[in-house]
Amino acid sequence: MSAFNGRIESLHNSHDRRRFDCGDSALNDYLRRYARQHADANISRTYVACKEQRICGYYSLAMAAIKKQQLPSQYHKRFADYPVPMARLARLAVDVGYQGQGIGKLLLLDALYRCLELSRNIGMAGVIVDAKHEQAQAFYQNFEFETFPDSALTLWLPTGAIQTLFAADQSSYAIEKGPRSVFNP
Ligand SMILES: CC(C)(COP(=O)(O)OP(=O)(O)OC[C@H]1O[C@@H](n2cnc3c(N)ncnc32)[C@H](O)[C@@H]1OP(=O)(O)O)[C@@H](O)C(=O)NCCC(=O)NCCS
Repeated sequence: MSAFNGRIESLHNSHDRRRFDCGDSALNDYLRRYARQHADANISRTYVACKEQRICGYYSLAMAAIKKQQLPSQYHKRFADYPVPMARLARLAVDVGYQGQGIGKLLLLDALYRCLELSRNIGMAGVIVDAKHEQAQAFYQNFEFETFPDSALTLWLPTGAIQTLFAADQSSYAIEKGPRSVFNP
């Protein structure tokens, strides 16, 4: 697990959004200008890995629905011809000063655990993500995300795979009490 000794918490007003720089202006801009607006409008939620007010990384989650035909063909039989409910990992970024220290992985696991909790309450087929480029695609593939057949930069992780990821005795990510106790002791 990462040696990160900060906290993961919901984005709030006193976090210093201006200083955040992940090297991608669109992702910086989203955090500075839109993340709180979207939370206020209840269309997404943003969580930050932070040390006091300093934001080291963030992710945003939203709901989504896709056509089953977008999924790899082996999954088509599993779903009816209705929109397939998903969570969307809409954004994930780590400040350049903190990249390569395991914070991206911590944030991804935090996001997946949050989705797993949500799936227990309302059900969802999995988590999708639109990778911005091939490097980001490779990052998600490390965590067993599968690419969509017609759009290699769109990936998904089925809810069953997320359950397995966190299942006790089955993976190094196994956690007993949820990410709060692991990431925010
Ligand atoms: C992609 C990004 C979020 C990764 O965050 P990070 O904190 O640097 O990554 P971590 O240190 O947590 O790495 C976790 C694991 O992923 C691997 N990894 C990191 N970046 C990777 C990449 N681009 N391709 C493949 N693997 C990668 C690491 O080697 C590490 O593997 P390990 O667990 O076996 O040691 C970060 O580099 C970033 O914010 N980049 C700019 C914005 C961006 O591209 N965001 C993605 C948008 S979809």
